[in-house]
Amino acid sequence: MRGIILAGGSGTRLRPLTSVHSKQLLPVYDKPMIYYPLSVLMQAGIREILLISAPEHLEAYRSLLGDGSRLGISLSYTVQQEPRGIAEALVIGGPFTAGEDVCLILGDNIFYGHRLPDMLRQEARRLDGCTLFGYPVSDPERYGVASVAEDGTIATLEEKPARPASNLAVTGLYMYDADAANRAARLTPAARGELEITDLNLTYVREGRARLVGLGRGSAWFDTGTHDSLLEAAMFVQVLEKRQGIRISCLEEVAYRMGYVGREQLALLGKEISASSAYGRYVMELANA
Ligand code: DAU
Repeated sequence: MRGIILAGGSGTRLRPLTSVHSKQLLPVYDKPMIYYPLSVLMQAGIREILLISAPEHLEAYRSLLGDGSRLGISLSYTVQQEPRGIAEALVIGGPFTAGEDVCLILGDNIFYGHRLPDMLRQEARRLDGCTLFGYPVSDPERYGVASVAEDGTIATLEEKPARPASNLAVTGLYMYDADAANRAARLTPAARGELEITDLNLTYVREGRARLVGLGRGSAWFDTGTHDSLLEAAMFVQVLEKRQGIRISCLEEVAYRMGYVGREQLALLGKEISASSAYGRYVMELANA
């Protein structure tokens, strides 16, 4: 399975924070936002990843993350000229996925849960059609909303419904079979002029080939779409990291624990970040543990 991170969009809701910066490079406590979705893909065992962003921001991602070899993964980059919809990521990524299954993740979605990596690896293995990940929320009308049949397939799916059929938001993490790029290419733009990811998902729902996997109570999901949700995500990370003495979505640690890099490379990565940064020291200590 290959991975795509979509990190474009105009970030209008977060201006002026995003007037000159890419939204997905904004800090979430101690690291850039993009680290969180990238770590999810890495923990799912996905090592070939395409990052898609706006033309004016792509170089910033490239200089932050490089070709991925430092982390034992392969990262490539492509632009989305205009924010023409989340589903366009699969069209743009078509040559990259080249007939393989794909996991798409939105660059502004933050996931946390200790069972998540195992669950994603399991779902990647049993994928047939499309798998979406649901999370119970108090404000479902802000999201894609799914209701689920008894066998776990999705019965209904609506984008930002005025009267939600359930409280299950569809998160920005999607797994698709190799047909997704073709299906996305056949979509027509919806009311807001975009290729809606929900319209793509509905093509699988109609065939009874879309599953919803609940992320469950023990996990957290933030979409960082507003100033408040951005701050809340940062505070969540801060509280957990301080209390437990760990770092969430530390790419260097994930690469080490997944066996993508060895201890020597980990030490080097820590040194590169800098001993004067608490994050850098964390990585170095891990290498010396
Ligand atoms: O966060 C989960 C939600 O994401 C889902 O529940 C919805 O079904 C899905 O449509 C989406 O809703 P949003 O209203 O949050 O989508 P938004 O337009 O804000 O885009 C989400 C992210 O994707 C955002 O960081 C910008 C990026 N994006 C978006 C579009 C439309 C792109 O990079 N390119 C695009 O063309």
